[in-house]
Amino acid sequence: MNKRFKKYQAQTTSNPLGLEIKKAKGSFIYSQNKKYLDFVAGVSVNNLGHSNSEINKAINEQLDKYSHVMVYGEFVQEKSIVLCELLSELLPKKLNCTYLTNSGTEAIEASLKLAKRITGRQKIVSMKNAYHGSTHGSLSVSGYEKRKRRYRPLLPNIFQINFNSKNDLSIIDNDTACVIIEPIQGGAGFISAKNEYLKEIRKLCDKHNVILIFDELQTGIGRTGKMFAFENYKIVPDVLVIGKALGGGFPIGALISNRKLLSKFISNPELGHITTFGGHPVIASAGLKTLQIILREKLHLKTIEKEKIFRDRLKHNLIYEIRGSGLMLCLIMKNSSVASQLVSESLNNGLILFFLLYEKRAVRITPPLTISENEINKGCDIIIQCLNKIN
Ligand SMILES: Cc1ncc(COP(=O)(O)O)c(C=O)c1O
Repeated sequence: MNKRFKKYQAQTTSNPLGLEIKKAKGSFIYSQNKKYLDFVAGVSVNNLGHSNSEINKAINEQLDKYSHVMVYGEFVQEKSIVLCELLSELLPKKLNCTYLTNSGTEAIEASLKLAKRITGRQKIVSMKNAYHGSTHGSLSVSGYEKRKRRYRPLLPNIFQINFNSKNDLSIIDNDTACVIIEPIQGGAGFISAKNEYLKEIRKLCDKHNVILIFDELQTGIGRTGKMFAFENYKIVPDVLVIGKALGGGFPIGALISNRKLLSKFISNPELGHITTFGGHPVIASAGLKTLQIILREKLHLKTIEKEKIFRDRLKHNLIYEIRGSGLMLCLIMKNSSVASQLVSESLNNGLILFFLLYEKRAVRITPPLTISENEINKGCDIIIQCLNKIN
């Protein structure tokens, strides 16, 4: 592995994949002398594949006009407005206003602050095994103790409950500011929330005037058959947090809520959330083009047919289960050793797969939404060949 990479760039694992990237286009990433089919898409980011020419054109057009000119919220910048406008057109009426941030984590942080401001309460309910980010606030509501322990004390008044367990929901009461939940728990192993469970949470949040926050960082922007995963359930959150694929490959986050609720950031104190680069015009133009292309090509709807090909093709005695929805899929392998062997064998054979944060038996399959049937079949062939070798 490149020595300078390990020497000068701070590392967060002792065994990074370490692929040296030369270029990337469509569903492929290239090193100096090898081509790799990408089944990861930068961890649910590159929904239109790599180096999309329409996104590149939109970025260049914006760059030629202006780039960063002011911190968030002071100047009127057309592309950011149109992006927020399009999001509100796509969403139910009550989600009619957007605050753009630099990252998903920042949007999560802002959403927790917003819930406190709206309700005047401090108690937060979140899920065990959730992942919402790695800063103090977002780590506090994340639910994997092993990753949290060394950073305590974290935020007080966080109550973590078992995902999908209706019995735990009595914790939601008149003192609760918000409930934060991923509709499909990512790091935990792509575990889908049950319809009845989410409905019950919505009911209790309504009863006690609690803000319901949906973290759709991974599930949003067309990955699970709808533009947003909450549309698969018959409920609407009070705050929707998105990011990742929204930026078309560039850093972004967004919290979307009702204009009246978001106006809490305006006063008492003013500047309730501050960010220098949120709403960056170049990133907004990439995000806008991304949404427009997904809608035009109906890529979100097509994920369901593509999911079916994966499920049909990936049958093997070492695969215990395929979890997830649309093109947010993961293979649950016999054990963690098989999972890591599969990731490294596939890489040797020209296919990029990856792990999940907490569930070590899992192998991630989150390819670009633009992936072709041919490419899916090619990747599945490699997976089956590698598993036969491991067997
Ligand atoms: C469900 C979920 N929430 C929050 C985050 C944090 O987003 P970001 O890394 O853009 O800050 C992630 C990132 O993987 C995520 O998957």
